[in-house]
Amino acid sequence: MTDVKIAPSILSADFSRLGTDVESALNAGAEYVHVDVMDGRFVPNISIGPLVAASIRPIIVAHGAVMDVHLMVESPDEYLTDFVEAGADIITVHVETCPNLRGTIRNIRSLGARPGVALKPETVLDELGPVLSEVDLVLVMAVDPGFGGQSFVDGSTGRVCRMRGMLDRMGSAAELEVDGGIKVHNAAEVAKAGASVLVAGSAVFTKEGSIHENVSAIRLAANS
Ligand code: DX5
Ligand code: ZN
Repeated sequence: MTDVKIAPSILSADFSRLGTDVESALNAGAEYVHVDVMDGRFVPNISIGPLVAASIRPIIVAHGAVMDVHLMVESPDEYLTDFVEAGADIITVHVETCPNLRGTIRNIRSLGARPGVALKPETVLDELGPVLSEVDLVLVMAVDPGFGGQSFVDGSTGRVCRMRGMLDRMGSAAELEVDGGIKVHNAAEVAKAGASVLVAGSAVFTKEGSIHENVSAIRLAANS
């Protein structure tokens, strides 16, 4: 098993000192910075947009890290250009929001970013079958999208395992990212199931422990 990458979700950061929090996570060795974009329509919450993503871009670049944008919005096609211009390296869209998923994925790639596809916990994995060979990342959600700090949904590890099987059978090198409810206590189980990237929001940006300690603890657990 190769080492998993850690993707701190800035949704749980202190927005009054966002740059400092991102810098701390990157100094701890986080490979990705996960940017959760919510429009109040696809999910009940509203978070941040391309202007905020662009503001942290220089910090991400300075650390040689990856800006990983997770679009939880009803009409993702309308915002792809904005996020590419903001510096997104990866743009992940939800299968539930894309009537022409293949077209959206190809559009992301032609704009110069790496395409990813996400699914909610109740969406069947086979819905991704037709596009799996065209994506660079599959995001398996382990909570209902919309909020940080929720509990890992039972059965998510099994879904990660099955998605790992689907990717391996087709010889795909796509990243398998798991998002929602990742903590020190379940990081190893999710990594063993085949995840290659773990998103962690509330477990990283919490008052318990420093950001540096929290990223390190999740990494240690995941690779144990
Ligand atoms: C949920 C977001 C997640 C979330 C993760 O809609 O996509 O990225 O912020 O937060 P935790 O790790 O607290 O579950
Ligand atoms: Zn996310």
